[in-house]
Amino acid sequence: MVSSNNQRQTPEGSIGLKRRIGLMSGASLIVGTMIGSGIFVSPKGVLQRSGSVGMSLLVWTGCGLLSLLGALCYAELGTMITKSGAEYSYLLEAFGPIPAYLFSWVSVFVLKPSMLAIICLSFGEYVVGPLSVGCSPDPLLVKLVTILAIGIITFINCFSVQLATQIQNICTVAKLSAVAIIVVGGAVKLSQGHIQHFNKGFEGTSSSFSDIATAFYSGLWAYDGWNNLNYITEELVNPFVNLPRAIYFGIPLVTVCYVLINISYLTVMSTTEVLASEAVAMTWASRVLGVMAFLMPLTIAISTFGAGNGTDFTTGRLTFVAAREGHLVGILSYVHIRRFTPSPALITNAILAICMIIPGNIGSLIDFFSFTAWLFYGATMTALVVLRWKKKDIARPYKVPLVVPFVVMAISAYLVLAPIIQQPQIEYLYALLFIVSGLILYVPFVHYKLELRIMDKITVFLQLLLEVTPTSPITS
Ligand code: ARG
Repeated sequence: MVSSNNQRQTPEGSIGLKRRIGLMSGASLIVGTMIGSGIFVSPKGVLQRSGSVGMSLLVWTGCGLLSLLGALCYAELGTMITKSGAEYSYLLEAFGPIPAYLFSWVSVFVLKPSMLAIICLSFGEYVVGPLSVGCSPDPLLVKLVTILAIGIITFINCFSVQLATQIQNICTVAKLSAVAIIVVGGAVKLSQGHIQHFNKGFEGTSSSFSDIATAFYSGLWAYDGWNNLNYITEELVNPFVNLPRAIYFGIPLVTVCYVLINISYLTVMSTTEVLASEAVAMTWASRVLGVMAFLMPLTIAISTFGAGNGTDFTTGRLTFVAAREGHLVGILSYVHIRRFTPSPALITNAILAICMIIPGNIGSLIDFFSFTAWLFYGATMTALVVLRWKKKDIARPYKVPLVVPFVVMAISAYLVLAPIIQQPQIEYLYALLFIVSGLILYVPFVHYKLELRIMDKITVFLQLLLEVTPTSPITS
């Protein structure tokens, strides 16, 4: 994991940070972010939308493959443009400030808070679930626990970078144990001959293009995080070698785990049972673990808490970098005077995440998230292709075959367009309108650098309230 001292010195982002993250830490950063809440929540959505056991396993494998291909393109981008900040830096380089600004606008106001909201909602479900014996968990209680989790995660990240990284490591151990328990438990059941749920194979497979695309949405949520190392390339030791290697190691590992976990779920539960279960891993545990079943929600809750914590951590950094570039209000790039944590960015993220929880449920949030995220992943693939022409001579220590970004671009176009075309939902329009609405603020505030006098007053007030200050990069 990222060394805490490292961030203490320059909490504002990556400039001047030392290269301390090696191959294993890099790979564990990828694996640790990818395995979060999704694999314990999304199997139901994937199965429902894909229509059959066979197709759902194919979708899970396909999501892994797509993430790997996407990540390989990011490996080229990350070794060529070694600035941290992932999509933000690549879009800036290929297309200039407007697309990069729109990305930071959407990330800070929609993507990152919805990530935190989804992960913490899963936490809420896995905490409240075991307490509501014999009935479905009270949605209000789930939301309250979720808000509490967001509050605690935000507090931890505002309080100390060191504490946040320690918690992250403990949670990674918990999540790998949960994965191991499910895989081994499934293997035992399979060896006892429980193969009846696989007999139907592809029977019932959905023939709708948009259903398959939204099945991918559910699965891709569980795989999201494959690009996380690109946010911190400046801190990676020998990034030219280690970025591609961490990707080659981490993503196939997660793919294998996810497919095996799904096989395990389906060994123990029928499709009808998976579809009826709100928290599939818990139903699985009550069947397989008997009196020890309480272990499962506990480890999953810890795992999701860790994913929330890690996501919040990267969010603080991205918000911070974009604000420092002048693409967001300045206060979002300030850090706490003693704790060196980007608290205004973190608090904003928490407030937005809570706003999303109040009306939303996990399913609709995941769709909304995946739609918007893949729009930008697709745009980043275009950036790679454009840069091949625009910056022909830049050194590319790692180069993907050009067909790969085209394939990912085509799939992301399909993922984004198929649901809109087949089942236009007002939410997708809102998402698009929101992206474009960023421009309204861009023209006066970023392009013409308009400064409102009231903003100065607000900034000073918040500075005093939160004890934060602007920082300049420290390179020692
Ligand atoms: N894949 C994770 C999960 O299943 C979510 C990762 C959120 N994405 C991120 N870049 N932090 O919970």
